[in-house]
Amino acid sequence: MTEYVKLIFGDREYELPLLEGTEGEKAIDISRLRQDTGLITLDYGFASTGSCASAITFMDGEKGILRYRGIPVEQLAEHATFKEVAYLLINGDLPTREQLTRFSVLLNDHSLVHEDMRHFFENFPRASHPMGILSSMVNALKSFYPALQSTEEEINITVTRLLSKVRTLAAMSYKISRGHKVVYPRPDLAYCANFLNMMFDSPVKPYAIDEDVVKALRVFWILHADHEQNCSTSAVRIVGSGRVNLYAAISAGIAALWGPLHGGANQAVIEMLTDIAEHDNISQVIERAKDKNDPFRLMGFGHRVYKTYDPRAKIMKRMAHRILEKLRISDPLLDIAKELEEVALKDDYFIAHNLYPNVDFYSGIVLRAIGIPTNMFTVMFAIGRLPGWVAQWKESIDDPRWKLSRPRQIYTGPLERKYVPVDER
Ligand code: CMC
Repeated sequence: MTEYVKLIFGDREYELPLLEGTEGEKAIDISRLRQDTGLITLDYGFASTGSCASAITFMDGEKGILRYRGIPVEQLAEHATFKEVAYLLINGDLPTREQLTRFSVLLNDHSLVHEDMRHFFENFPRASHPMGILSSMVNALKSFYPALQSTEEEINITVTRLLSKVRTLAAMSYKISRGHKVVYPRPDLAYCANFLNMMFDSPVKPYAIDEDVVKALRVFWILHADHEQNCSTSAVRIVGSGRVNLYAAISAGIAALWGPLHGGANQAVIEMLTDIAEHDNISQVIERAKDKNDPFRLMGFGHRVYKTYDPRAKIMKRMAHRILEKLRISDPLLDIAKELEEVALKDDYFIAHNLYPNVDFYSGIVLRAIGIPTNMFTVMFAIGRLPGWVAQWKESIDDPRWKLSRPRQIYTGPLERKYVPVDER
């Protein structure tokens, strides 16, 4: 039986349907609000606004829960491969052995990128940020692979192309930026190992695949694979709602992820920790973060949804310790991060604002340990997030209620006035 919320406006009473998700989250369905009442809602940053119903990812920000298709992220990080997680997110269930083999074959078949794309890379200025390059290259895929994306089969091929080629493109961009020869994907290597090999193998120093490094990357990617309606995923859904091709929608997601308040925070955290290491100024950094007249924020801290410790950050912190220990690396930034966390978590400001480390706080330390350059951290986030973006885009285009995204506004500009010719102004 549908429940309703009563809205009294003027001398009339309206009933708005109340919806409930499988985990008990309640929402007022306001889709007919303007039509019935003439009112719209206003919600900066969409803090109280749901943009869709989704069966992909569940988060509970108060309890620190994250599940993909019902499975806790902790279990997936411990036991699953990234390929399994990608399949789970996109198709709704973990693959059988047969489905997994078929998926792996398809990913291998589509792992190469058109040789002409190399010329693009070669013409970006050397100092270009890898996120700008990745976003452009993913958009350019449509020109190189113009196949239609109408039938289920066509969509599946595009999705597989993207999942496989994004890895190749990212590694290619790194090699070319260093002036090195591109390393091609190898069908005998699994998804994560294949990427590492393309990044670091060279004719003078063959890359030795280390299972601990592969595991660290696998966990990093699994933890980033989806996070429901965040900024970049919303960008993918909104851009996709205009029925643009999937490459363009994902390219928009990559651009959105680049920002330092979102995926770009992992690079910003390492820059902040490096600065602290140089100036030995933890207390000044904490004071700056609390100062309302200073736009500086403690990077890697706080989250729109999590008001407790981000469950991904817990796993990432353990992984940072484990990988440094296994690789016998001593990274002073880990000690600084731990000290900064300890100071912040005892500080009244951070306690009152429910600010805890998020996934980006320790992830850069893991990425540094496995050899990823700092300016590629957000690219690593993007590769990990791709299955989530694809799953969310697919869910949106399959939803019969899905419409062109077109928010309203409250106009606050001047009332109608006359054009004044330039000499009379
Ligand atoms: N340092 C200092 N103060 C903070 C921080 C921070 N990192 N984050 C939030 N606050 C304060 C903010 O100043 C505000 O204070 P007040 O209410 O007194 O004015 C209050 O907390 C609420 O902030 P908000 O900006 O309204 O909250 P939000 O939900 O929009 O913020 C956030 C979410 C992630 C943008 C923010 O916490 C932030 O800027 N964090 C640093 C950047 C970062 O680490 N981003 C990565 C997020 S996790 C990866 C991902 O999924 O994208």
